[in-house]
Amino acid sequence: MRKMFIAGNWKMNNTLTETVEFLNEFKELVKGIDNVEYGIAPSFVCLPVAKEMVKGTNIKILSQNMFYEDKGAYTAEISPLMLKDLNIDYVIIGHSERRQYFGETDETVNKRIKKALEHGLKVVMCIGESLKEREQGITNIVLEKQLKGGLADITAEQMKNIVIAYEPVWAIGTGKTATSEEAQTSCLFIRNTVSQMIGKETAENVRIQYGGSVKPANTEELMGQNDIDGALVGGASLKADTFIQIINKA
Ligand code: 13P
Repeated sequence: MRKMFIAGNWKMNNTLTETVEFLNEFKELVKGIDNVEYGIAPSFVCLPVAKEMVKGTNIKILSQNMFYEDKGAYTAEISPLMLKDLNIDYVIIGHSERRQYFGETDETVNKRIKKALEHGLKVVMCIGESLKEREQGITNIVLEKQLKGGLADITAEQMKNIVIAYEPVWAIGTGKTATSEEAQTSCLFIRNTVSQMIGKETAENVRIQYGGSVKPANTEELMGQNDIDGALVGGASLKADTFIQIINKA
């Protein structure tokens, strides 16, 4: 059985003050929930306080990115050692916004994943096609390329610490959700590709999240699909009273 994983990717939203307010409220709302895994990825500047505030709860704290070197002259980058020192639970790698605006490629995604795993950090690896690619009918080609590039040289053992997030770029922040059928079809394709690449058992166990305009109203339908094991939620994760509804429905 794969445990559902609902994670909130806050992107460049919520100040430290807002993060503290959120967690004070959220900690009360999630009390007792342990059949679903859940967490948030606030901005880097909020990570130490967030990590401190969730002590004694089941709330996971994720970082939104990480560089692929341990230390050195890389102004403004965040190293795996810094995240490990804070006991960060997961690192999101390869989000489409990183790929689109900050030059992230399958190759740099792969470097980051290897480095995170080397330091014992778990990974949420994001993949997904753009609207143009979907319209051209090359969704599966794009997903396969991102999987093969991003997971190059990754072993079955290492895959136990990787979650895949399928986020069609055209559904992110647009209010346009993939239909549950479209999301399921792509997540099944991803699982089958992992099976071919790494093996059947790995594919059966790997958790695949869906991301893109997830909200309380569409959670049940999406999470009810066989190959969808959770959600990576943007906008609807910023307020505790909305995010808890998604967790409850999952
Ligand atoms: P939205 O839920 O705001 O569409 O964002 C999805 C996303 O990119 C999560 O990583």
